[in-house]
Amino acid sequence: MTSVQSSVSNRIKAAVIFGTRYGNTEKIARSLETGLKGSGFDTVCVDERNAAIDSLEQYDLICFGAPTEGFSAPKSMKEFLERVKTNGLSRKYGFAFDTKLDWRVSGSAAKFIEKELTELGLQIVAPRESAIVYTLKEGGTIVGARLKEGEADRFEKIGAQIGTVLAAVRESNNPGSSAMTGSQSRPEEANPN
Ligand SMILES: Cc1cc2nc3c(=O)[nH]c(=O)nc-3n(C[C@H](O)[C@H](O)[C@H](O)COP(=O)(O)O)c2cc1C
Repeated sequence: MTSVQSSVSNRIKAAVIFGTRYGNTEKIARSLETGLKGSGFDTVCVDERNAAIDSLEQYDLICFGAPTEGFSAPKSMKEFLERVKTNGLSRKYGFAFDTKLDWRVSGSAAKFIEKELTELGLQIVAPRESAIVYTLKEGGTIVGARLKEGEADRFEKIGAQIGTVLAAVRESNNPGSSAMTGSQSRPEEANPN
């Protein structure tokens, strides 16, 4: 099990944890990571299968994403979030995302994840977002999925927007500060009013 490690720095720390079957949610997760990094965040992006839950404690922002399966999150992500519960990640910022088909009633993994994060006590930094995929078929059998054009770029922008929001919150609560670190990182702690 890989520890979700980031380098020692005084920048805002973010982890993007994703599940994926065909690779599309990973692409979206990496776009989000690029956007966050562009905002100066110290960011890691890790497959849920390789993420050590203990190491999540060090992050200010944790983003979780998964493919929508059976109208909700896949079993693996549900189990991951269940294990996260035993560690407690309250007092952090959270963001949920998913990939899904462009169906009228598709369900949403992100909806499930966002609800879980709220129950865990994470503060949702931006409303959940979904990237649209199309199924790939061979001889009538579904063999994969591909992202709708533009979705990767859109998620890079979402990462940048989240970066702007968190940096502004930090600055308004801690004027003149250009750094937010680990356990001292919650802007509300610097100025609870
Ligand atoms: C077993 C299974 C169930 C699925 N159920 C849904 C669903 O309920 N709603 C939906 O929009 N897409 C559904 N899909 C399509 C997935 O959302 C799509 O394959 C996924 O977003 C691709 O992401 P990935 O490449 O990261 O696996 C399902 C796909 C599989 C394989």
